Amino acid sequence: MNGKVDSKSDFFTVLRERHAVKRYDDHYRMKDDEIRTLIQSASEAPSAWNLQHWKFIVITDQAQKEVLFEIAYGQRQVLESSIVVAILGDLHADRNAEKVFESDVQAGRMTPEIKLNLVMQIEQAYANKPDWARDQAICNASLAAMQLMLAAKAMGLDSCPMGGFDPNKLIEAFAIPDRYVPIMLVSVGKAAEPARPSARLPIEETIVWNRFE
Ligand SMILES: Cc1cc2nc3c(=O)[nH]c(=O)nc-3n(C[C@H](O)[C@H](O)[C@H](O)COP(=O)(O)O)c2cc1C
Repeated sequence: MNGKVDSKSDFFTVLRERHAVKRYDDHYRMKDDEIRTLIQSASEAPSAWNLQHWKFIVITDQAQKEVLFEIAYGQRQVLESSIVVAILGDLHADRNAEKVFESDVQAGRMTPEIKLNLVMQIEQAYANKPDWARDQAICNASLAAMQLMLAAKAMGLDSCPMGGFDPNKLIEAFAIPDRYVPIMLVSVGKAAEPARPSARLPIEETIVWNRFE
């Protein structure tokens, strides 16, 4: 299985064919520009106020993967995949506001007055609301994680999201500052074996039309 989709525009093939691959060709190494394309694609994800509540630790180094292997309860994909991306949520994405909106002002997409209003609105929204900030970080960074996995598939690669790791050990071993919360790990590489088949609940069990009765 090469996992490569025929057409970049065949989005639904990418959706259908992305599955959680656990066994990777451990000789395959993503090139630097491929990694950058992947992260760039993940960064195109939407986020509240465009605050881009994500940070990506891209783990390429085998010694660091050995450290991560222990933290991820011995999941072999950590060692065998080309890279593992630790996706972090930003608990202080409000601090990105100035930079994000200033680039809009400079590009003529926003007036300085609108920028000021938005920055004040965001400051108020974040003031003394750590739980809310955490929800925002998790929600928005998860969108980037999903986008990263779909981009990987569109690039002919495979991935697996992992929640099975000790977040406190990850924070300690990778010197993650207080500002960030670990969301998930994502392995990326060339599949050596297809993912275990999985199914989904029928959509009639997941849709609620208009409101709960
Ligand atoms: C947040 C999250 C955490 C997950 N954690 C793990 C994990 O630690 N190890 C693992 O092998 N798979 C993990 N998975 C993969 C799921 O088991 C998999 O996505 C699910 O069974 C559906 O299969 P599919 O992705 O192949 O369609 C995780 C998936 C998500 C979204």
